Amino acid sequence: MSVVLSIIVPTYNERANLEELLKRIDSALRVYGVSYEVIIVDDNSPDGTAEYAEKLSELYPVKVLKRLGKLGLSSAVLDGLKIAEGEFVAVMGADLQYPPEVLPKMLEKLQNCDVIIASRYVEGGSMSEWSFLRRLISKGATLITRVLLPKVRTVKDPMSGFFIFRRDVVEGVSMNPRGFKILLEILVRGNVRKICEVPYTFGVRFKGESKLDTSEIVNYMVHVLNLSPEYVRFALVGASGVVVNLGVLTLLRYFNFPHVFASAVGIEASVVNNFILNDLWTFRGRGKDWWRKFLKFHTSSAVALLAQWITSVIIYYKVFSSSIIAQLIGILVGFPMNYILSKRFVWTPLQ
Ligand code: GDD
Ligand code: MN
Repeated sequence: MSVVLSIIVPTYNERANLEELLKRIDSALRVYGVSYEVIIVDDNSPDGTAEYAEKLSELYPVKVLKRLGKLGLSSAVLDGLKIAEGEFVAVMGADLQYPPEVLPKMLEKLQNCDVIIASRYVEGGSMSEWSFLRRLISKGATLITRVLLPKVRTVKDPMSGFFIFRRDVVEGVSMNPRGFKILLEILVRGNVRKICEVPYTFGVRFKGESKLDTSEIVNYMVHVLNLSPEYVRFALVGASGVVVNLGVLTLLRYFNFPHVFASAVGIEASVVNNFILNDLWTFRGRGKDWWRKFLKFHTSSAVALLAQWITSVIIYYKVFSSSIIAQLIGILVGFPMNYILSKRFVWTPLQ
């Protein structure tokens, strides 16, 4: 019988968990008659995970992919994918924090969903014994992810490391192996229409220790920012411009420059700041003529700021005399205008 489900398990020093993992996967799937393979992608673990996996392949349907060194979680999954034979692919860690017993419940949804995520944050799911701080960090990162990545807005647990997808979801899609969360990469770049979540309880590690440290949180945020759509990046750059604007203004005022001068320099500093960040990041790789783009961006910003000011004045004098509200509505008009002008006129899309 051909393999239906390929279960990719990246490992680094997980020897002590392997046997239990394979045993539980097997007993979870066997009763349903699912033909599966487990692909252990090991990064040359010093504890001999790969060798032990080879040995266990006499008892269980296991393939071992041994890589030369610790090359990271996402790239391990992508390498595993290359040798996966199943029509469906599951990804999970080796330490049994993800209970294999959830697999059948996830498989049931395959008819109707492109990606099925084991979720801590849907009804019935939970985290056992997590400290308040870890919960807070996890929730915070989840919230930021959902705000910055509109494509995953409906997903309750986008940071999950346990999920199943149909193989054709990623066929022909190029994914960043340095990205830390392969699930995000798949959700944002893959051919995904329907995403489903199945509740589970995130357990405590069976044996060994976690490979995730605080530097991964920073990596994660960078990854999310890089996956975010242009308008989100443009808005973030705009927000940084406001900080620069007010910062320069405050500094110049501190040295007793007149407001009329400080204000102008603050505005110009923010336009330059926004230009550089948009050029290097938001619209990276678009257009070559730096000076032309620089001048055009000044024009688009001026037009948008003018629109913002006119809107604000009209609202304040004709509709509702609150400065803050009038100014905010002005920003609501100016921002998309600047975005559209920047996109169409400054950083013209590549033909
Ligand atoms: N091959 C390889 N290379 N495997 C790795 C590497 C690596 O560089 N880094 C970690 N792994 C393996 C671990 O051995 C384990 O099997 C799995 O990836 C998950 O790593 P853990 O160290 O157990 O991470 P965690 O439990 O703190 O975090 C997990 O759960 C989070 C919450 O859902 C991960 O799955 C996270 O992605 C997830 O956000
Ligand atoms: Mn773990």
